[in-house]
Amino acid sequence: MSRDVDPRIAVFGLGGVGRAFLDLLTERSCGLSLVAAADSRGALVGDLSPEAVLRHKAAGPLPEGPGLRALLDEARPSVVVDLSACDFGTAEPSLSILRAGLDAGGAVVTANKAPLARAWSTLHAGANGTRRIGYAAAAGAALPAVAVARALARRDDVRSFEAVLTGTTTFVLEAMAGGASAEDAVRAAQEQGIAEPDPSIDVGGWDTAAKLVILAHTLWDCDLKIDGVDVTGIEGADPAALRAGGVRLVGRAERRSTGVRASVAPVALAPDHPLARLRGAEKGVLFRGADTGEVLVAGGRSHPRGAATAALADVLELLEEAA
Ligand SMILES: NC(=O)c1ccc[n+]([C@@H]2O[C@H](COP(=O)([O-])OP(=O)(O)OC[C@H]3O[C@@H](n4cnc5c(N)ncnc54)[C@H](OP(=O)(O)O)[C@@H]3O)[C@@H](O)[C@H]2O)c1
Repeated sequence: MSRDVDPRIAVFGLGGVGRAFLDLLTERSCGLSLVAAADSRGALVGDLSPEAVLRHKAAGPLPEGPGLRALLDEARPSVVVDLSACDFGTAEPSLSILRAGLDAGGAVVTANKAPLARAWSTLHAGANGTRRIGYAAAAGAALPAVAVARALARRDDVRSFEAVLTGTTTFVLEAMAGGASAEDAVRAAQEQGIAEPDPSIDVGGWDTAAKLVILAHTLWDCDLKIDGVDVTGIEGADPAALRAGGVRLVGRAERRSTGVRASVAPVALAPDHPLARLRGAEKGVLFRGADTGEVLVAGGRSHPRGAATAALADVLELLEEAA
């Protein structure tokens, strides 16, 4: 980071993940100072107590803020934490928040996959070799998939990986194997808080594709873009295979001499496949290294608090690295 390290953080987004993040700041002695908190309509700036921000948010809208860049100029955070609701197509407002945070000279942490999947190179350009973007919550949330990918990247021997990366699709496919219609299965996932409000990104395979792009860039120096992923959603599942069970929406990426080849499709996994053991909303990634062999990371709670925990760990790591 270009300015002296100072544990000042600004939080954008006070929904499920943002509120869980502020709860964690209260519960844990992390030594962080909250200097700004914003939602879609307003912001608070100053020496803030997380509890007071939560009380303010529960009581009504935050006061109108000064605008993104002016807010960062005033608050001068070391880390901008983006927990905003993000449009998958435009990656906004997340992309603007991350760009503003990086332009202001600090580090950024995001729970949103779209800005990374759509603008990885431009966001990472200009970091001058310094790690300034934390995104563990964006590709696995509670599942430490990014942490394992970063550890394996240093070994430089991973040739491919396979992954089940959304909490929604296994739940929906299992319900369909039990005889439910796709619509009923998705509705049940929404009722249990597993599916996003717009589940088409999950069931259409694009959520998995975005996370594949993020993990591929974490592992390899590559130019994979989300539009370069060959995507088939769960609507493409063979009905007979679905009824037989064991179908999962699987993302696959492989490093070849010509670049990275990546795909997402419903696949009938053999019962002894490591990813076949995933149930309900569980996620998992199976990395294959030439010398390391197979490494499976699986599980993780599908819940806003899991994502908030990942984001907080990113903040603390980035501050430690900058110290
Ligand atoms: N929920 C999970 O378990 C989970 C896991 C991993 C990743 N994520 C990702 O994390 C993001 C947040 O999830 P969530 O469940 O907390 O969503 P949410 O409950 O819908 O809350 C989103 C928050 O973003 C705020 N917001 C919208 N536009 C903003 C802007 N321009 N500036 C500042 N804040 C803005 C909203 O403000 P208002 O309060 O004014 O509406 C709201 O407080 C989502 O994009 C999601 O995909 C979620």
